[in-house]
Amino acid sequence: MSFLEVNNLNVEFDTADGKVRAVNNVNFSLEEGKTLAIVGESGSGKSQTVFAMMGLLAHNGTSVGSVKFDGNEILNLTGPELNLIRAEKMAMIFQDPMTSLNPYMRVSEQMAEVLTHHRGLSKSDAVKESVAMLDAVQIPEAKSRIRMYPHEFSGGMRQRVMIAMSLLCQPKLLIADEPTTALDVTVQAQIMKLLSDIQKEFGTAIILITHDLGVVAGNSDDTLVMYGGQVMEIGTTEQVYANPTHPYTQGLMSAVPRLDHDGTELTTIPGNPPNMMLLPEGCPFCPRCKFAKSECKTKVPELIFTGTSGSHYRACNVAVEELV
Ligand SMILES: Nc1ncnc2c1ncn2[C@@H]1O[C@H](COP(=O)(O)OP(=O)(O)OP(=O)(O)O)[C@@H](O)[C@H]1O
Ligand SMILES: [Mg+2]
Repeated sequence: MSFLEVNNLNVEFDTADGKVRAVNNVNFSLEEGKTLAIVGESGSGKSQTVFAMMGLLAHNGTSVGSVKFDGNEILNLTGPELNLIRAEKMAMIFQDPMTSLNPYMRVSEQMAEVLTHHRGLSKSDAVKESVAMLDAVQIPEAKSRIRMYPHEFSGGMRQRVMIAMSLLCQPKLLIADEPTTALDVTVQAQIMKLLSDIQKEFGTAIILITHDLGVVAGNSDDTLVMYGGQVMEIGTTEQVYANPTHPYTQGLMSAVPRLDHDGTELTTIPGNPPNMMLLPEGCPFCPRCKFAKSECKTKVPELIFTGTSGSHYRACNVAVEELV
């Protein structure tokens, strides 16, 4: 059994206009110390997948299925058990650090509180350890800066503070939801390097959610491509990049600029992501797919083995050989 196993995960939201089917029968697993990247256009269900795992869905949301984490079923846990897992085993880094930092408290107090509360450290030991963690995420002059308020840090530094905070209890799983989209490219690269160093040092498993296929390429073991709340393709990042077998993945790839393909035209995927309240009956990608056949309108494709390499799966009604 893998360290993290997500089986048939579904998330629905009740709204005044009807049900939003945000996540539909999602399956994946992750081994300790490995990184899984989740990619897909805006609204494809990436965040709600991990929010469901962490028990962070909005009040109008419900999740069904199974999430086995470190040997225990954790989907729909409530109360103290869930709080403990969230605090000590599974941490999340959000796109905007201000969503998890308290603007009115010095960083020192916020960090020390985590350690006094969850690890029973004395206040002074907690501050010492927090300074060490800020050092580890390369905040210069951590000892004096720890007394600052979150708004006194630059965007990139704030992101580091949040990463440091999420690591205080040495979580086994770190979920990073678009951790670098708000940052410029050099800072982005530094943060990604930092996450990979942390992974090597602590053996942390990482789920990395991103729009940016460039970030995925060098920073993940496996890649999961989502569309319309479903897994369209999953495999090792190498398999998915070298041999994308789903028309949607192929579309995403050809929309990425590549230096080694000088002169090749960049393409975009025509059309827009589906309205999750009115998902098509068959394949959600069907209305935008240039290879769609009539059965794609009615048959939801199952996620099946590509038949080429070990862990590479696709959900498409059209055979790979026909995608030309
Ligand atoms: N509280 C809610 N009520 C109704 N619908 C919701 C709610 N929260 C999310 N959704 C819908 O769920 C779908 C999936 O949202 P999700 O946040 O997972 O997208 P995403 O893939 O993370 O997109 P992005 O890249 O823009 O962050 C969207 O259609 C969104 O509008
Ligand atoms: Mg999101």
